[in-house]
Amino acid sequence: MKLVQRPICWGLDLVERVLDWPFGQVWNPLRHLGALGFFMYWIVAATGIYLYIFFDTGITAAYQSVEYMTHDQWYLAGVMRSLHRYASDGMVLFMVLHLLREFARDRYRGVRWFSWVTGAPVIALLFVCGITGYWLVWDQLAQFIAVRTTEWFDWLPIFGTPIAANFLTSDMLDDRFFSLMIFLHIAAPLLLLLVMWIHLWRVSRPKIHPPRGLAVGMFLAFIVLSLVKPALSHAPADLGKVAGIVNLDWFYLGFYPLLDYWSSGTVWAAALIGTLTLVLLPWMPPMRRAPAAVVHLDHCNGCSRCADDCPYGAVTMQPRTDGAKFDLEAVVNPTLCVSCGICVGACPSSTPFRRRRDIATGIDLPHLSLADLREAVGKASVGLVGDARVIVIGCENTLNGNTAGDVSTSYVTVLCAGMLPPPFIDYVLNRDLADGVVVAGCAREDCNNRFGNTWTEARIDRTRDPTLRRRVPRERLARLWLARGDRGSLGRRVSAFAETLKSLPKLPHKGDEAPVPPVLRKSENTENA
Ligand code: HEM
Ligand code: SF4
Ligand code: SF4
Repeated sequence: MKLVQRPICWGLDLVERVLDWPFGQVWNPLRHLGALGFFMYWIVAATGIYLYIFFDTGITAAYQSVEYMTHDQWYLAGVMRSLHRYASDGMVLFMVLHLLREFARDRYRGVRWFSWVTGAPVIALLFVCGITGYWLVWDQLAQFIAVRTTEWFDWLPIFGTPIAANFLTSDMLDDRFFSLMIFLHIAAPLLLLLVMWIHLWRVSRPKIHPPRGLAVGMFLAFIVLSLVKPALSHAPADLGKVAGIVNLDWFYLGFYPLLDYWSSGTVWAAALIGTLTLVLLPWMPPMRRAPAAVVHLDHCNGCSRCADDCPYGAVTMQPRTDGAKFDLEAVVNPTLCVSCGICVGACPSSTPFRRRRDIATGIDLPHLSLADLREAVGKASVGLVGDARVIVIGCENTLNGNTAGDVSTSYVTVLCAGMLPPPFIDYVLNRDLADGVVVAGCAREDCNNRFGNTWTEARIDRTRDPTLRRRVPRERLARLWLARGDRGSLGRRVSAFAETLKSLPKLPHKGDEAPVPPVLRKSENTENA
C-alpha cells in the first residue's frame, strides 16, 4: 500500500508547500478540503434555489428558460448558473483531493473506517446530482448523456422495456421521464446532505467551515470566473439527429467516453470493482491497530477534560462506579479510539513530578504510557552538554524517525503533540534536564489527529486546561508546527532556537518537589501539581 500512498503523498506535499507561500499555513486550501466541500455545497444549494424560480420544467421549454437566464438575465441568473456549475465542479475537485489526502496519510483504517466507507455513497450521490443537472438543460450534451446513460442502464436485467427507447425520437420522449430527472436533481442533493452529515458522525467538532478569509476569497474568485467564462448550453437537443461532438465537463462526465470504448457490461464491472476496492480498503493489509486508551479510576477525578479534548468522541463521562466521591468517571469506547494520546495530555493527573517510579495517570496508553514518556525524557537528557542543551519532543509524523540528535540536542517521540502534558515542559526545565524545550508537530490546521497542535498551543498560552505553569520561562520554549514538506528544516530550526538560549541568564534550579497524592481533588489543576 505504501507504494501507492507515497507518490500521492509526495505530489500533495509539493502542492501544499507551493500553496503555503501565498495562503500561509492557516488558509492553505489543502488543509480545509472537507470544509471547502461543504462550502461548495451551500453555494450550489443557494444558486440552485434561485435558478429553480426561472426554470421551466416542461421538456420543450426547459432549454429556452435556461437560455433566458444565461443571456437575458446574464447579470444575475446567468452568474447564478455559472456559480452553480463551477461550485459543483469545485465540490468534485475538493472531494477527490480530500479522499486522496486521507488515503495518502493513512487516515482511513481502523476506527476511521466509518468516515471512509460513508464517503463512498457521498461520491455516488454527488455524481447523480451532477449528471441529472446536465440532463435538465436538454441541450445536445443532455441528449448525449441521456442516450449513453440509458443504454448503459439497459444492460442491467431490471427494466421491462428498454429505457433508451424514450430517446429514439422526439415523439417518444415522455414528459414523466423528464419530471423524474427533476425529482432526482432535487432529492439527490438532499440525500447527499444527509449522508455528508452521517459521514461526520464519528468526528467530534468537525471542521465544516473554511476560514472566513479563504471562503470570501474563493467565492469572489468563482464570481470572477463566472463573469469571464460564463456557463453556456450547447445547441438544443434534437432526437432526430445523433448528438454531435460535445464539450464534456470532465469533473462529472469524464467516464462517459469509456462507454464508447468498452461494452456496458465492462463499465459496470469496472464500477463494481472500483466501489468494492474503495469500500474494503480500510481492511486491506497492512492492518495496524494500536491499543485504545485505558482509564485508571484511582487517578481520575471526573473533570471531563479528556472527553472535551478527544478528537474522535471516544471518551464519555458516565456516573461513577467505584464509590469515589466524584460524580463522574471517564469511559473510553475502544471502537472509536485512534490511540493518539491527546487525552493523556489533557488529564490533570498526567504529571511527571512524582517520586514514584511507576507513575500513573487518569487515562493512559498501554503502548506508550506516561511512565514510558517520563523515562524517555530522562534518557534524552543523559549526555547532553553545553549551555544550550535542547530536548525536542515531537509527534511521530514530524520527527518521522529522525531522532539521532547530537551532543546538545536529543529527541523524544510522542504519538501526537497533544499527547504531551504541559507539566513535562516544566519538568525538563525545572529539573535542569535541558536548557530549552522544543515542541514539534504537524502544521497548523493540519494535525494528523485533528486537534493535537491546537490544544497544545492553547495549553501553553493558558487558554485551555491543563495550562502550562506561569513560572515556565517562555523564551526557553519553542513550538514548531511544520508542514510535511518542511520537516527537513527541523534540525536547522532547532539549532537556531539553541543559539537564542546561549544569551539567556542561567535558570535557578529547585530540588525535588513533594509528590502529589494519587487522586487530585476536583478543584486542583496542574498549576498546583
Ligand atoms: C464532498 C464530499 C465530502 C465532504 C464535504 C467531506 C467532508 C469531511 C469533513 C468536514 C471531515 C472532517 C474533517 C475534520 O474536521 O478534521 C471529513 C473527514 C473524513 N473524510 Fe470526508 N468528505 C467528503 C467526502 C469523502 C470521501 C469521498 C471520503 C473517502 C472515501 C472521505 C473520507 C474521510 C475520512 C476518512 C475522514 C476522517 C479523517 C480523520 O479521521 O482524521 N470523505 N470529511
Ligand atoms: S487516545 Fe485519542 S482517540 Fe483515544 S481516547 Fe484518547 S484522545 Fe480519544
Ligand atoms: S481526571 Fe483525567 S481521566 Fe479523569 S476525566 Fe479528568 S482528564 Fe479524564
